[in-house]
Amino acid sequence: MEASAFRLQKKMKKEKEFRVTVREYRPRDRKKILKLVKELEAELAEKFQAVKIKPGTEDCRKRYLNPATKYKTFVALAGKKIVGYLMGYPSLGAPEVDMMYDILPLPHGEVPPEFYLQITFVSKPFRNRGISKLLHKHVIDYARRQGHKEVYACIAKWNDPELKVIRSFKFKEKDLGYRYRLSLKL
Ligand SMILES: CC(C)(COP(=O)(O)OP(=O)(O)OC[C@H]1O[C@@H](n2cnc3c(N)ncnc32)[C@H](O)[C@@H]1OP(=O)(O)O)[C@@H](O)C(=O)NCCC(=O)NCCS
Repeated sequence: MEASAFRLQKKMKKEKEFRVTVREYRPRDRKKILKLVKELEAELAEKFQAVKIKPGTEDCRKRYLNPATKYKTFVALAGKKIVGYLMGYPSLGAPEVDMMYDILPLPHGEVPPEFYLQITFVSKPFRNRGISKLLHKHVIDYARRQGHKEVYACIAKWNDPELKVIRSFKFKEKDLGYRYRLSLKL
């Protein structure tokens, strides 16, 4: 093979490896997502050293990544590698009510007005390439297709990268003191 053709083939392979796509979570992704959850916890433990971070992997396994529950996860892939996720769920309007039910207490097919964006994580080496924005775009489109009327998130004021992502979609924000409630009508 000629050197230029070889270089072109190598370049195309590299571009394919870094092409980012988003899709819905599949049960076989579980191990990889749990690894990313641990990455997030290690990052938080380093950031907030005075705080004891409660491990969330068991909750993820039993609740958030359990296809029988209301929780919905989207994964971002760079090539074939899972490098990020966004978890959310149809919300009954108040966190204390949402926390009571892992399965929506509504007649089959009925959709509550709001969809809550609970957590987004992108592995550090893959940040600042628009992956979180792509995840949010997918989830907003998904929520619209499902018939929700609004998506919302609650983001701590220190979290400039995530606030930048959410604000880029023109969410309306309400100051809650320590955090903002950001919502987008669909
Ligand atoms: C928040 C997070 C998901 C963003 O993921 P990401 O894929 O890097 O996000 P994107 O590349 O789509 O966008 C990040 C934006 O923030 C900007 N940004 C990055 N660091 C920043 C900083 N310290 N201050 C201000 N803006 C910053 C980037 O430039 C980019 O904006 P741009 O596209 O206009 O240039 C990622 O940083 C993360 O996983 N953090 C830890 C978990 C977390 O805090 N999750 C959110 C709470 S639910």
